[in-house]
Parts: sequence; structure tokens; C-alpha cells
Amino acid sequence: MRVLLFTGKGGVGKTTASAATATLAAGRGLKTLVVSTDPAHSLADAVDAPLGPEPTEIDGGLYGQQIDAQRSFERSWREVQDYLMTVLARSGIDPMAAEELTVLPGAEEVMALLEVRAQVTSGRWDLVVVDCAPTADTLRLLALPEALSWYMDRVFPVGRRVARAMRPVLARTALPVPQDRVFAAVERLHAELSEVRALLTDPQRSTVRLVLTPEAVVVAEARRTLTSLSLYGYRVDGVVANRVFPAGGDAWRAGWVAAQAIQLDEVRQSFAPLPVWLSPYRAGEPVGLEELAAFGAEAYGATDPLALPPARELMSVTRTETGFDLALDLPLADKRDLDLVRKGDELVVTVGSRRRVLALPSALRRCAVSGAALAEGRLVVSFAPDPEQWSATP
Ligand SMILES: Nc1ncnc2c1ncn2[C@@H]1O[C@H](COP(=O)(O)OP(=O)(O)O)[C@@H](O)[C@H]1O
Ligand SMILES: [Mg+2]
Repeated sequence: MRVLLFTGKGGVGKTTASAATATLAAGRGLKTLVVSTDPAHSLADAVDAPLGPEPTEIDGGLYGQQIDAQRSFERSWREVQDYLMTVLARSGIDPMAAEELTVLPGAEEVMALLEVRAQVTSGRWDLVVVDCAPTADTLRLLALPEALSWYMDRVFPVGRRVARAMRPVLARTALPVPQDRVFAAVERLHAELSEVRALLTDPQRSTVRLVLTPEAVVVAEARRTLTSLSLYGYRVDGVVANRVFPAGGDAWRAGWVAAQAIQLDEVRQSFAPLPVWLSPYRAGEPVGLEELAAFGAEAYGATDPLALPPARELMSVTRTETGFDLALDLPLADKRDLDLVRKGDELVVTVGSRRRVLALPSALRRCAVSGAALAEGRLVVSFAPDPEQWSATP
């Protein structure tokens, strides 16, 4: 069972590439579902068949689904958030800080993740292709399970304890009395999202594929996306370079071909050793299964569109002479965008506008950071045993 996510800038051909890959796989006998989490639903247009919120058969072995975001989750989450904000504000916490502590994850993203999980674990499919929203939304989506974990470990228990303790008091005030079922619902959600993350970062199963067009702005964004996805622990398995002008024609076209050639070189160098699949600019929109199958066949050629990249630890801890090295894959990251902060048992890694809070493995908790280096797409943070920390804890 394989899970393949497609993302990239708006309009580059994510939906088309997802549908084409799914069509190709179904044609080879795999029971395939292509599911769109992009609120701008165009999957049905691409496959030229009506789709709904449940998997619908498009052709033998090929199913499509457009997830409909539901607002119900957002409502219950709002209830929790409002409540926590009130409580935190009453306990003297600055309302701005309180608001930040209770940020609301997007309801659409949560629903999309839960639906993808339901399909992946249903046992119905050999392949689930996820046509994601444009990059920024996808990254928000993929960072969500971990961000919520952070929240659940820190803020939630406090909120719940406070809620319990204050119930008798609250009953006599105008403050709302929180419902246990609200907390229970959030806890269940947390467990489910942890599962989603485990599924989507499973090296034996899931990969992300970047779609781009050979244009400078698009390529720059795709490079940053590779860094961000790696930061969050997702595996990128290749790049689809779409709308490549075929050589020949007049001077106007020759100009485009030359400009694209420069960008394609940049793409190959940037993303090596990942495969870069080229898909030509077609004479018309690739709509319908026949067109999509042609798109897929042309892009992938003789390569296997479902091959898994070589197994490689995205994060590892090794022993060194002086302590430990924690290494994290951060391909294409720029030193100037990188920031590292040690906070208790956590290491906060920031790259540009993206941040990941890493819980340190237990061996590193009693060590101090002794150095950090970024080279060849890998961040290495060195730790040395800290005698103070050793003796401080029994
Ligand atoms: N290689 C191609 N040649 C011609 N038209 C294409 C090609 N790839 C995509 N398109 C068209 O471009 C538009 C945007 O593609 P789409 O897959 O919907 O992009 P995204 O999902 O990234 O927003 C669609 O009308 C699609 O049919
Ligand atoms: Mg799309």
C-alpha cells in the first residue's frame, strides 16, 4: 500500500499530475484512489467525471474523491479555544499570549487529514494519491499533527486541570462550564492526528512529489518546499517539471525553450539525486483519462512512478568522541535562514518562516549543545555531556 502526495505552487499542474499518476497506476492494475484536499476542487474537471465527498468509481480500478471540509470540528475546537482563552486571561496571562497558546488549526486541514487517514487505513486501496492544496497550505496541513501534539502536551493538560478545579467556582459565575466531552473529543483528535503523521512519514509507504514549471519564481518556491518538508520529516521522492516547451517552432518559442532550459538545469542540480520527470506543454488541457494516461506515460517513461527512494534516516543520533551528534536532513537550507534554540528537553529548529520543535532523545537531554554546522544539506548539532545536568537530576 503506497501513499503519494503532490504539492507545488498554484496552477503548476498538481491536480493534473496527481490524476495522471493515478490513471497510470490504475491502468497497471493497482486499485487506486485519487483524493483532492484542495478546497479549489478541480479534480473532477481533470478526470472529466463527477466526484463527491465519498470515493466514486471513475473507471475500472480508479476512484476519485473530493474532500468536503466540514465546519463541525471548527465549532467544537472554538468552544475549547474560547474557554481556554477566558481561563488563561483570568489567571493573569496576557491575552495576546493566551491567544497564541490556543491558536486554532484549520478545520479544513484537520478534516482532510482525517479523511486521508480513513482511506489509507481502510484496506481498500493499493495506492492513494493525494492532490494537495498549494504549497503554503500543504505545509500547514503537514505540520499540523506535530504542532497539535506540542499544544496537547503543554497547554491542554493545564486547561483541563484548571477546568476541573474551577468547575464549582464557575458554576456560580457567568463563565461557561467546560464540558468533559469537549476535552475528550480533542484528545481523540490528537491521537488520530498522531496516527496520520505516522502514516505520512512512514518511509515504507509515503512520499511527497513536487510539481513545478520551469520558471525562476516557481523553482525558488519548490526549493524552499523541499527544505520545509524535510524539516517536518516528510520524504520527497521526485519532481515533476510540467509545461516544458518542446523544441522547434518560431523565435518566440525558441526563446522560451532556452529560458526553460536554464531553469531545468537549476532544477536538476538543486534536487539531485531525486528524479526529475519532464512533462511537455501540451496542445490543449489534459482533461479526461485518455489525455491523463498520455501525460503520465510521457512524464514517467520507463521509470516506476511508485518507486520508494532509498531508505535514509532523516534524523539520526550518533555517538562521537566528545558526546553525540544529532543530524537532520535540511536540503537546500541557507545558513542565514537557520536558527537553533535549546529549550529544556527540546530543540527548536527554525528555517526561514518554518519551525519545528524537536523533542530531544533521552540520551541528549542531559547534554549541552556544543556546536552546530550545516553542510551538504544536513544540519549537525553536537552535544556534549553537561555535568551540571547529570547531577541535577537524580
Ligand atoms: N502539461 C500541460 N499542458 C497543457 N496544459 C496543462 C498541462 N498541465 C496542466 N495543464 C492545465 O493547466 C491548468 C492548471 O493545472 P492544474 O493541474 O489544475 O494545476 P494545479 O492543480 O497545480 O492548480 C489546467 O487547466 C490544466 O488542464
Ligand atoms: Mg489543483
